[in-house]
Amino acid sequence: MNNQNKNTADPNFENEVRTGLGGFPKRLSSKFIYDKKGDRLFQQIMEMPTYYLYDCEYEILELYSKQLSELFCKKGETVNLIDLGAGDGKKTKILLRYMVSNDFDFVYKPIDISETILEELKDSLKKELPTLKVEPEAGEYFQVLNHLKTYNKTKKVIMVLGSNIGNLLHPRAIEFMSSLKDALNPDDLLFMGFDQKKNPQTILDAYNDKEGITAAFNRNILYRINDEFDANFEPDKFTHWEVYNPETGTAKSYLVATEEMNVKIKNLNMDVHFEKWETIHVEISQKYTDAVVKWLADESGLSITDSFTDSREYYRNYIFVPKS
Ligand code: AVI
Repeated sequence: MNNQNKNTADPNFENEVRTGLGGFPKRLSSKFIYDKKGDRLFQQIMEMPTYYLYDCEYEILELYSKQLSELFCKKGETVNLIDLGAGDGKKTKILLRYMVSNDFDFVYKPIDISETILEELKDSLKKELPTLKVEPEAGEYFQVLNHLKTYNKTKKVIMVLGSNIGNLLHPRAIEFMSSLKDALNPDDLLFMGFDQKKNPQTILDAYNDKEGITAAFNRNILYRINDEFDANFEPDKFTHWEVYNPETGTAKSYLVATEEMNVKIKNLNMDVHFEKWETIHVEISQKYTDAVVKWLADESGLSITDSFTDSREYYRNYIFVPKS
């Protein structure tokens, strides 16, 4: 996940704040929620019983470790297993344990923007799976993807877990999947998780916990603006509001101003006015059907060869190959 250093003015974040809060309706991209505190809050979200996405993908990896390992790494093959946005690697470790104890020949390449997270992951793997070959790489997805194209000699399996794709609108999702496709050779595989449409109440509950963890996670973007651009947001004056449209499958998170206010963002020389009940759109979390995933794959030059779901059929991991 994203993890910027406090007090380093990130030009992308600056641009986001200028355009997102300078325009109407106001918006800020959820990728800027993640700093140390944002990472910790997301960790807490994944532990919430209502946030079923984590448990479903965990179950899929447990149920299908054998099939997945055999698909990823045939007898006599050497594979680079590339984990994009590896985080703490808890889910991937299920697969890694199976592959190590069954002598699959592979190198694990976790990729994350946070060097700290990668160091922790490397240390924990050293203890838990000392014979595993680990080659971490820190960087932004797109930057690392360009570099992945050069891993041409060894078969690649690229994993994107957590339904992270759901935080992108369809056109951006297609751009992302197309770049993944460009990094694949004909024998390489892409393994990605997509949260599925389901009872709308289950989806709302996942993003609307009573403890207020998701609300704190979303408000963290305002704390970051305060810290990094010397602003005077009062985040508690914004309430978290989640909506889900069962027709489009789009869940959206808003921060809603509970009173009229003016906010000063000193370092950007900006004064931002909020009407009472004015919104900031912070996140989309797209939910999918097989047909939509197939459409995204087609548009990105990929074909689906297989898919795996959990016992409740809430979530699905797909295997993609480049279209021949
Ligand atoms: C990282 N991403 C897939 C999460 C999601 O479900 O959209 C982020 C999240 N936002 C609120 N809860 C979790």
